[in-house]
Order: sequence, then structure tokens, then C-alpha cells
Amino acid sequence: MMNSSISIGFLFSVFLVSFFTILCFSSKGYALGGGEALDGHPHHHTVQLSSLLPSSVCSPSTEDHSKKGSLKVVHKHGPCSHLNQGQANIPTTSRILTHDQSRVNSIHYRIGLNARQSDLDDSQATIPAKSGRSIGSGNYIVTVGVGSPKKDQSLIFDTGSDLTWIQCQPCLRSCYKQQEPIFNPSASKSYKNITCNSAECSHLTAATGNTPGCSTSTCVYGIQYGDSSFSVGYFGTETLTLTASSVFPNYLFGCGQNNQGLFGGAAGLLGLGRDQVSVVSQTASKFGKYFSYCLPSPSSSGTLSFGKAATASSLQFTPLLQDSQFYYIDITGIKLGGKSLSISPTVFKTAGNIIDSGTVITRLPPAAYTALRAGFRQAMTKYPTASGVSILDTCYDLSSYSTVSIPTVSFVFGGGVEVPLDVQGIVYPVKASQVCLAFAGNSAASDTGIFGNVQQQTLDVAYDVAGGKLGFGSGGCS
Ligand SMILES: *[C@@H]1O[C@H](CO)[C@@H](O)[C@H](O)[C@H]1NC(C)=O
Repeated sequence: MMNSSISIGFLFSVFLVSFFTILCFSSKGYALGGGEALDGHPHHHTVQLSSLLPSSVCSPSTEDHSKKGSLKVVHKHGPCSHLNQGQANIPTTSRILTHDQSRVNSIHYRIGLNARQSDLDDSQATIPAKSGRSIGSGNYIVTVGVGSPKKDQSLIFDTGSDLTWIQCQPCLRSCYKQQEPIFNPSASKSYKNITCNSAECSHLTAATGNTPGCSTSTCVYGIQYGDSSFSVGYFGTETLTLTASSVFPNYLFGCGQNNQGLFGGAAGLLGLGRDQVSVVSQTASKFGKYFSYCLPSPSSSGTLSFGKAATASSLQFTPLLQDSQFYYIDITGIKLGGKSLSISPTVFKTAGNIIDSGTVITRLPPAAYTALRAGFRQAMTKYPTASGVSILDTCYDLSSYSTVSIPTVSFVFGGGVEVPLDVQGIVYPVKASQVCLAFAGNSAASDTGIFGNVQQQTLDVAYDVAGGKLGFGSGGCS
């Protein structure tokens, strides 16, 4: 007993030392009408300022999740989260945006690393291992059941990572504070360890970017995120209950006995990436690698559903480009106030674009951001400007207005799919006297664009991974 805990403790420290450091690191805005153009498309949203500002009251969607077989999604810092430990624990905007930049840096780093690696082994038909660290922890929470008897675990969900893990007892090194009791594998009839020499154990290298360890013949995983959060522990299998009718025995997951980071009181993370250990791959026999979500505004609730049957009917599909690690999409243009911005299509093609549930603010190629910002500033000239915050450089003091007019923004994707953004996806309200354009430019044209979660708010987003397409619908989360 003594020996085994010393050895695993030692292993954990070796794991952590061996991670190399790469990083510096509403309610719904309802339209009051107005701005109708001749073609019927509104050129601006006329909204009450109060509807844009963060609310401390939860206005959940009216959807009956249990009936539809979907999971309820809430923002980790919003008033609808049962993990929310009060206003005092909500990070400042500048802190949120600093973390967001860490995530973006690690996405760019990983894409660069893979590009360099595939150049190197171009001649061999090998899939390059995902080196480096995983991306970050995301902002939205779903509750799933783990074990027998099943224990509810509220998990951050993340399309940018693959491994699912939860904090487990005994916390050999440390566990961060979480709202629910920490999962105890020895109190579950269905928990099993994965052995070191199994094929499953070797899958961890691709899923986590780290070679697995071994402790008394049990496989040990270690995963570290862009914001320097991490989880280390035993790799095991458990019964995963997504909904009453979707129960998966022998689901591979990390039982974390040394965990640290900014998980907002959640019990762990649900990996929705493309790798074979992700929840998308492990449930493929039932759901055919199809999932969809609607990310709510911070003060409301949305859904995460698996399988085609659960999806809303009216979706427009754009190709999901093939890649081993991220969900690449084709952005072809941006419309502001109903008019296409003049951005050469090659601007978006240079480094490509991904859709990510964990990046907050959409990152655009520098030339695209400059065009969007110029158009937006022109449309907002009647409002007094305010100072910027972190990566947001175009802000307005709207505190003396009760109703404001914000130009509409639509994204155009490959296949001619035009997606109008919710007004909450256009401006990011720090406070009434500082309402900012909710976009940022990448620092280099060679950095991949990222369609982030602020822009995805209230849209239905469906990932048909097997079919190679991504669907968008509006008016989700209702
Ligand atoms: C899993 O492996 C660890 C380390 O070898 C051990 O302490 C634990 O009891 C094992 N659990 C089960 C259920 O086999």
C-alpha cells in the first residue's frame, strides 16, 4: 500500500516535470425591429442596452431535455450553473480574455507542430502523433452519469480535446475544489483499470500528446492544458450514462488523482474531439459520430445532443474538412450590415479556419479583422468610444442610451451557407460603459482562424463527423 502510493506519487511528479512548457501563454438580445433593408434583411439590431448586459438571473430555455434525450448545457460562470459559487468567483473580463489567448496560442502551436511534423514524415504514411499539450478547458458544462450506481458529474465540454477525465478519490497529490462529491472508483461496481501493455493504453499518446506511464501494471495518463491546468491519474473504464437510454459500459476515461486548474467547480472534462478516445468516437456505434449543440447566452441554458435523430430539422451544411485533430471549416466571407466586406477569399484560405467550442472570441486573419473593424466603427460613429480591454480594441460607452443600434454580422461558409450572428455574438458587453466588438485579429496571416463560442451563441451547430459536414441553424436554445 505504502509502496504503491509512493511510486505513483513519484510517477506523477515525473509526469509534471516532463511536460515541457510552450506557452507564454442575457437574456436574449431581442430585436425591437428597425433597420429593414429593401431585400428584407435587417441592417442592424435595435436592442435595449439592458438585454445586452450580463444578468445575474437565470432564464432557462423552456426545452424539456429529458424528453428529447439531450443534455442541458450551461455557461460555467453564468447564473444557470449549479456550480456557480457566486459573483465573487467570476473572473474579470481581462482574466477571461488572457486565458482565451493562452488557448489560442496553444491551438496555433499545435497546428504548427503538426504541420512541421507531417513535412518531416511526408514519405511515410504515418499519422503524426499529437505532440505538445492539449488545448484548454472550455466554458460550457453538461452533467453526465458515471459508475454503478451512477453518480452525476458536471463536466466542461470541449471540442478541442479528446480524453474524458474526472477527479477521483483518493486525491493522491491534489484535487481542486469541485461542487459535487469527488468520484470514488472503489465505490462503483463497474470501474476497471486499463493495463499498461494494452492497446487502449497506447492510444493515450495521440489523445493527450504524452506517452502514458505505468504504475503496478496500471496505465497512467497525464494531460496538461494551454492555461497550465492538468490532470494525472489512472486510465480506466466505467459505465457512462449520457441519457436514460444511452448508457455505455466500458467507456475509457481518466480517473484523475492529481488535478489542478480552472475548471470552475466542474468534476472534469468531456472530450468531443476527433481522436479515437473522444466521446464522439467511443459512442460511434450508437450515434454514428454525430453530435450537435446550442451554446446559450451566459444567463440561459442550451443543449448537447448525440445522434442525428436529436437534431433540429432546418440546418444548412458546410463541408467539415478532413483533419486529424481539429474541426476545420471553410470561411469564405463576412457581411456587415447586409453588405459583403471587401476581403479577398485568399485571406481566409491562407491558414484555414477551425470551429472551437472552447475559444471565447473569434480570431480572424489580420486583413479580415481590419476590414470588419473599419466597417463596424463606421456604423457606430454616433456612439462615444471607450477604452479597449485585453484583445478587444473597439469599445463604446453606451451607458447613456437605453436602446442601441448594432450593425448585423453574418458569416459566409463554404457551400454558400450564410449564418447571421445573434447580437450577443457581435458585441461583448464588459459593462454599459464598455461594450466591445466581440472579435480579434490573429497576429499573423499564417495563424489559423478560429470561430469561437461567443459567435456560436444561440446557433444550432451540428457536427456530422462521419458525413464530413457541419450544420448551422438559427434560433437554437429556445
Ligand atoms: C487500479 O490500479 C491501482 C494501481 O495499481 C490500484 O491501486 C487500484 O486498486 C486498482 N483498482 C482496481 C479496481 O483494480
